[in-house]
Amino acid sequence: MATPPAPPPASVPSSVLAPPIFSIARVDKLKPADLHDLGDAAEQAIRDGGGFGWLDAPPRDLMERYWRGVLLIPDRSLFVGRLDGVIGGSVQLVRPPRNNEAQAHAAMITTCFVAPWARGRGLARRLIQAAEAEARVTGVQVLNLDVRATQEPAVRLFESLGFVCWGSHPYYACVRGEAVVGRYYYKDLTEPADLASDSRPTTHHRDNRPL
Ligand SMILES: CC(C)(COP(=O)(O)OP(=O)(O)OC[C@H]1O[C@@H](n2cnc3c(N)ncnc32)[C@H](O)[C@@H]1OP(=O)(O)O)[C@@H](O)C(=O)NCCC(=O)NCCS
Repeated sequence: MATPPAPPPASVPSSVLAPPIFSIARVDKLKPADLHDLGDAAEQAIRDGGGFGWLDAPPRDLMERYWRGVLLIPDRSLFVGRLDGVIGGSVQLVRPPRNNEAQAHAAMITTCFVAPWARGRGLARRLIQAAEAEARVTGVQVLNLDVRATQEPAVRLFESLGFVCWGSHPYYACVRGEAVVGRYYYKDLTEPADLASDSRPTTHHRDNRPL
């Protein structure tokens, strides 16, 4: 298992530190070390308040089976985001099943999370942008997503990336016996991509090939 990059010592001015290296990849398989790091990141995010289904972190073997299962599902792409080589978060892009011709133009962004240690540096933004880029090149015209209204950083992130809220659901989720409101978003990909995206260094690859 790789160790997450350590925060800088308080005595070192941030201006002399090298910026972290981001890498975003769509993955078809996960090496045991990556599976472990992804499990760690997901577990930490769930303990911190989740936001992608689980309320309590499942046992590790179940967590790893979940990620292996994700890789097997047709029409589902898994993206992982690394900070200095360590997986800190992920997102999935899900297309409708082949029989759903009426919605073949749309896809869904789901299960977006970043481990607490990797937050606030632009990793989630880059993950969503990579999923959106793949959606565009594969002909998707509309991206959909939904999120608990209480996940404020996620709401801010999606809205800053141009997702439009079209509705809310008062009983979207139930957390510790309390109903939680959900928000539903779409993004029209027939509009030009926002070219003013983050210019900080990122590598995008799929199994080491450029996306
Ligand atoms: C939401 C989440 C994925 C953001 O990850 P992140 O890597 O910290 O996000 P980024 O660093 O890319 O931030 C992008 C934007 O998100 C918003 N944001 C991120 N953290 C925030 C915070 N703590 N408070 C307010 N806004 C925040 C900001 O708009 C930020 O814009 P900026 O880059 O101009 O500052 C992460 O907080 C998380 O995993 N939360 C729990 C799971 C969840 O809510 N998932 C979404 C639903 S499936």
